[in-house]
Amino acid sequence: MQSDLERVLFEEATILRRLDEMAAQISEHYRDRELTVIAILNGSLMFMADLLRRIPLPLRLDCLSVASYHGKTETSGELIFKQVAPDVADRHLLILDDILDSGQTLVAVREKLQMANPRSIRVCVLLRKKKLRERPANADYLGFEIEDEFVVGYGLDFMERYRNLPCIGVLRKELIAQPK
Ligand code: IMP
Ligand code: MG
Repeated sequence: MQSDLERVLFEEATILRRLDEMAAQISEHYRDRELTVIAILNGSLMFMADLLRRIPLPLRLDCLSVASYHGKTETSGELIFKQVAPDVADRHLLILDDILDSGQTLVAVREKLQMANPRSIRVCVLLRKKKLRERPANADYLGFEIEDEFVVGYGLDFMERYRNLPCIGVLRKELIAQPK
């Protein structure tokens, strides 16, 4: 599986070291407020599990399944919510996602949650691609900024594969053009 990578961007140990820093920042901010984490599945699963275990605060966890991809490497536009949004009125929300690419997912999730009148919303992403975006989609907490390349591993998939790779890497171009 690892041989399908053109190169490794972040080894597992590097990711975990960064999560220590992010967890410290998040814990500092939410020290005196009760935090509700909204994790966007499936991509943020590994990230969520490793990050949340580093936050020593009482918190609630809800997961949202959304789909914007149809098996390829480009955003399809329309976002599909697979369930109704959790009841988040008056809560301090922290949205977790694996990667900020076009930003459409986070903009749509934020808009949807905003309708339920939370007290605050912050966004935390492990990766953000360097690119121009139609709508600004900022992250309050960011793991790593990467070039505009298709990456897999540590929860990120290509056609539902590679999520269980412990590292994050760039998938070989010929596999994207013609998956096995
Ligand atoms: P966005 O809405 O374009 O910001 O992207 C949303 C989703 O697309 C992310 O949560 C990922 O699931 C997926 N995605 C975007 N870029 C990549 C990538 O490089 N590898 C794997 N999944 C990606
Ligand atoms: Mg995906």
